[in-house]
Amino acid sequence: MHDTRPRRTFAVISHPDAGKSTLTEALALHARAINEAGAVHGKGDRKATVSDWMAMEKARGISITSAALQFVYRDHVINLVDTPGHSDFSEDTYRVLSAVDSAVMLVDAGKGLEPQTLKLFRVCALRGIPVITVINKWDRPGLAALELMDLIQEKINLRPTPLTWPVGEAGDFRGVLDRRTGEFVKYTRTAGGATRAPETRMAASEVGEDDAQVWAAAVEEHELLELDEADHDQGRFLAGETTPVMFASALQNFGVAQLLDLLLDLAPAPAATEGVDGTVRSPDDEFSAFVFKVQSGMNAAHRDRLAYARVVSGTFERGMVVTHAGTGRPFATKFAQAVFGRETTSVENAEPGDIIGLVNANALRVGDTVYVGDPVEYPPVPTFAPEHFVTASAGDIGRYKQFRRGIEQLDQEGVVQVLRSDLRGDQNPVLAAVGPMQFEVVEDRMTHEFNSPIRFHRLDYQLARRTDAAGAVALSGIRGVEVLQRSDGTHLALFVDQWRAKVVARDHPDVMLEALPAGGDVVAAK
Ligand code: G4P
Repeated sequence: MHDTRPRRTFAVISHPDAGKSTLTEALALHARAINEAGAVHGKGDRKATVSDWMAMEKARGISITSAALQFVYRDHVINLVDTPGHSDFSEDTYRVLSAVDSAVMLVDAGKGLEPQTLKLFRVCALRGIPVITVINKWDRPGLAALELMDLIQEKINLRPTPLTWPVGEAGDFRGVLDRRTGEFVKYTRTAGGATRAPETRMAASEVGEDDAQVWAAAVEEHELLELDEADHDQGRFLAGETTPVMFASALQNFGVAQLLDLLLDLAPAPAATEGVDGTVRSPDDEFSAFVFKVQSGMNAAHRDRLAYARVVSGTFERGMVVTHAGTGRPFATKFAQAVFGRETTSVENAEPGDIIGLVNANALRVGDTVYVGDPVEYPPVPTFAPEHFVTASAGDIGRYKQFRRGIEQLDQEGVVQVLRSDLRGDQNPVLAAVGPMQFEVVEDRMTHEFNSPIRFHRLDYQLARRTDAAGAVALSGIRGVEVLQRSDGTHLALFVDQWRAKVVARDHPDVMLEALPAGGDVVAAK
């Protein structure tokens, strides 16, 4: 039962609209995991804009943030973990990225490096995740290839090391030069990319007359890159100093097989992981996993709750009894699922690198470790500093019970941070978010899933600092600051603005006031 095939666990990240859904479909199609393009994300639901995000979520019946797709390619098991695209969910993205070994960054050739692209690149750097860059939409007019390389070097300080180089400028895509073999991989346009795009490999000497001129230009640029030391170096890639680059058209299905080959050849396999006390579990050790996402309401009829966990070591077997590191209590894994798109399948076994959805995992929270054998606990996934604050109250007083239950659930899932104080009482918790769209998710889910309409009242606070119980006492009653407690026990002092925070810090030098990583700053910290 032990599946010893090697694993590659990765995420595709991009600015919205760069083609993430299209590429995901193409990858799955290529691996024949699904029968026809469009089965993963309904075609009509494709546009992942802010306004229809929620509708899309509902239409799909699950959150796109939860999806993990598994397929086999060249006798490797590939796990593709999906991430939310919108920057308001950066905290979610950060958590998901804790579960992968590498990332594929999709860049729209026409748009270059967009804000979310930059942010995600930096999150990967911070987490030490090697990134493969795919320049997408080469079938459409866009920036020059060399210019794109300069942007990557300048804006994110990663050295691009192209493995393929486009033959023909953006919009006149003839194929790519495989820089490792010197061959021409010729591209044939297909209708809608619904089938595998035919790729013809040929030696330089076989390049036809039609392509001769653009081929010569590509060879010249390839030589320039060689002079510039822009060649792949595995050590530097794994150390996060370089990013291999390839050119593709996800819509036309061109470059998809090349990307899969790259993942197999270059991306790291699941590795040993260190626990908080310094003990290390290697993939061959006994079973352990950590939860990076909790989600409920996927099936309205059952009110089920899934905890998504990444297997770190050992083999997971359905029905296994594991220990929950936080409480030391046993947890019976009666069922486990793999979920992607609308499909749910039962998982019998899982290996390091695989993602499992543990059913009815009411005790499990984001960041929790489960294990068999010797205790191990993996580092918690950091939370970001919230920058938006509201008080919440039940829109319908008669539904207070539902309100409480909903808030508690959304808190445990990490949809928003829930803050409380004796002063405000339980009826009006403060909800804190990194991005305001998180509140929209709360409103939607409270209304539709928990049957408790919710009312928000915006608070004037703009920033939070970590303090302690003594700080909470010392700061009580001071103008422009309020101390509340998060459900994980952390005390947060909220300030109307940074001036107020500075004045309070100056006047109370003995009070602990620590900055938390901010959605924006964390990522600037590279
Ligand atoms: P996202 O998940 O990153 O948000 O992007 P998505 O795949 O939904 O793609 C955004 C748009 O870009 C889609 O067009 C898609 O067809 C198009 N696209 C993706 N890859 C390529 C490519 O390689 N070449 C070209 N030319 N277009 C590409 P749309 O008009 O918004 O949707 P649709 O009506 O085509 O589905």
